[in-house]
Amino acid sequence: MCGIVGFTGNRPCPNILVDSLKKLEYRGYDSAGIAFFDKGHIRTVKTKGKISEGLVPLLKSQNLLSDTENAPVCGIGHTRWATHGEPSDINSHPIGNGRVCAVHNGIIENYREIKEFLINSGYTFESQTDTETVVKLLDFHYKGDPLEAITKTISEIEGAYALGILFKDFPDTIFAVKKESPLIIGKGDGENFIASDVTAIMEYTKDYYIAEHNEIAVVTPQNIKFIDIYGRDIQKELKTVDWDVSAAQKGGYAHFMLKEIFDQPAALKNAMNPSIKNGIPDFSEIGLTFEKMSNYKNLFIIGCGSAMHSGVVGKYLIESLARVSVTVDIASEWRYRDPLITNEDLCIVISQSGETADTLAALKLAKERGADTLAVVNVVGSTIARTADMVLYSNAGPEISVCSTKGYAVQVCAMYMLAFFIALVRGQITKEYCEKLTSELTSIPAQIGEILKSLEDFQFAASNIMNAESLLYIGRGLDYALSMEGSLKLKEISYIHSESYAAGELKHGTISLITADTPVIAVATQSYLLEKTVSNIKEVKARGAKVIIIAQSGVDIDESAYDVRIDVPAKDDIMMPLLTNIPLQLIAYYTAVLRGNDVDMPRNLAKSVTVE
Ligand code: AGP
Repeated sequence: MCGIVGFTGNRPCPNILVDSLKKLEYRGYDSAGIAFFDKGHIRTVKTKGKISEGLVPLLKSQNLLSDTENAPVCGIGHTRWATHGEPSDINSHPIGNGRVCAVHNGIIENYREIKEFLINSGYTFESQTDTETVVKLLDFHYKGDPLEAITKTISEIEGAYALGILFKDFPDTIFAVKKESPLIIGKGDGENFIASDVTAIMEYTKDYYIAEHNEIAVVTPQNIKFIDIYGRDIQKELKTVDWDVSAAQKGGYAHFMLKEIFDQPAALKNAMNPSIKNGIPDFSEIGLTFEKMSNYKNLFIIGCGSAMHSGVVGKYLIESLARVSVTVDIASEWRYRDPLITNEDLCIVISQSGETADTLAALKLAKERGADTLAVVNVVGSTIARTADMVLYSNAGPEISVCSTKGYAVQVCAMYMLAFFIALVRGQITKEYCEKLTSELTSIPAQIGEILKSLEDFQFAASNIMNAESLLYIGRGLDYALSMEGSLKLKEISYIHSESYAAGELKHGTISLITADTPVIAVATQSYLLEKTVSNIKEVKARGAKVIIIAQSGVDIDESAYDVRIDVPAKDDIMMPLLTNIPLQLIAYYTAVLRGNDVDMPRNLAKSVTVE
């Protein structure tokens, strides 16, 4: 996902823009650049590649990172994750034509028609980007009034965008406008900012506004003004970041991913506290009342990647406790399948970033069908959060690593609380049992803390698989749901192919993949299924597999069935997922580290996929 930043104030802006862009690197990108007012002109410096390897040396070569007198004080910056046009210097942003310059996060869906119109109007194009079309259209409509040019332009473009715009005639002003893509405006002391998210500017200010759909911000050093597309002033609430800057930094860990794994006990407590009242889950404050919950006919849980995996755990929990049928699906499939959802149903969408395009589209489809919608989201004020009828915030704090760990854990926690609540509402469990389950859940963070005290088992397990070509994750029931997440973790950061498979299904074909030393990670914490799972494990062991088993401590399992055993604290089967999750995360983490990969910014991936 692209990142945009901007600064206008009374001190040199290149360093500030570069530092802000570095805080957005986690979003994934392939080129970066800045543009700023310099002696009456808009000057652009941009290049393909990482900021530290490309943009910084380029700026230094032009002596732009030293705080010289008359240094530029107003500018915009961009990290680009290519959608239109391959990563290249010419396709990198900012993009300008001398009069107008812009940075853009999103996709312009009708850029071809607009480009054709502009070419017929005499414009030429240098890049392959959709953004250049926006810049030239702004220029086409610019007759001296930036707001007129912007309102005309946004009335003609279709798609998703957050734009930061400079007009040559307004050398201390940044214009910003959003539709779908995230955009915040930071309020400083005699200086102001724009950014894709608040982590980019937290070290400069914790006060910010959230730009809403089709709002235009006019940002100068002394003033921030919001207007709508009709030119009417908009009053907005100033928000303040409640994280400290260190919360968005590594805090001494080697990688954000490891920090965020260790953040999980605290993140889970923050996820539970607002929703547990008098010992049981209570969602009345977000509008999910007893009455509403008792009336829904069907439940749908929709998401992508790890978010969808947490929905699979939710399905198992809700169906086993509340005896309610749950449909879980991948957002990009469900949204195009003309799904059987009606105004009698509840659609739960899960998204850490709250910006995933397919999940947002699924949410909008559910709303169009008249269903009530509940978003389980981590990023406050994100598009999905502001689109759903009800929002259950995960409160995990910023998750910087592309690989979701605490983001997934707090989503599973939300599934637990919803399952207990639904089961209570549907009369399937007593209040006392609901209190017991909730108490069990609140004891999980401490037990995760215990698991995190010794990491050697996970490092040893990783050393056993680090050179594998491919491996299987197997399990039954909740263990199968967790094996999906374990497999994704490994794939996305170690680049080793893996597949999660229902253990009972292996003999229907996939077991033919097993040869000598094929690693198999067997998740075997569900005691009621243990005997069956162990017999499946022995089937692969007998064919030469190297088995790493994850099991409840103290449970007796035939040692000939495995090569490496990892124990997690024993609890009721239903409470195992959040504990089992820790070894799965750390095995993936240490395998990626052993392979020397970029753990926090794995190749080809972005933190939030805001394109389809
Ligand atoms: C998880 O490790 C991945 N980075 C990815 O699957 C992610 O879960 C997915 O893209 C959904 O993102 P969201 O939760 O922000 O919607």
